[in-house]
Amino acid sequence: MKIAMGSDHGGFTLKETLKSHLEENGHEVIDFGTDGPSSVDYPDYAEKVCKSVVSGETEKGILVCGTGIGMSIAANKIKGIRAALLSDVFSARATRQHNDANVMCLGERVVGAGLALMIADEFLSSEFEGGRHSKRIDKITKLEEN
Ligand code: RB5
Repeated sequence: MKIAMGSDHGGFTLKETLKSHLEENGHEVIDFGTDGPSSVDYPDYAEKVCKSVVSGETEKGILVCGTGIGMSIAANKIKGIRAALLSDVFSARATRQHNDANVMCLGERVVGAGLALMIADEFLSSEFEGGRHSKRIDKITKLEEN
């Protein structure tokens, strides 16, 4: 799968770990930065990753900051993005199956690297179930129009 990734300084180390893991497992990653530990603003990276997903350049996005909260708030401002802040494997599967989430957010200061890799694997391998969930996604999409 083609995946857009981005982080701020608070999520840089975990972003690099995740990127290596995903590439080793056959995914193609477009890395939108940041490229080091210097302080940057997370909305800039949320915007780059989410625009890549919405345009169809990439299929899913992964955003990492210190808590994952800033990234998820910023990502969900972008039309067409359904971003889930994740800290467990159950929710990683459920948000794909029920919410058709297209971006996942993680907090490097919250979730250890081992768990983060499991969360990403579960998110990327789980499918939207459609059915009764589709009309709820349609309602979310309508909220964007108001
Ligand atoms: C940066 O210090 C920190 O505020 C950021 O990474 C993130 O946690 C914001 O939500």
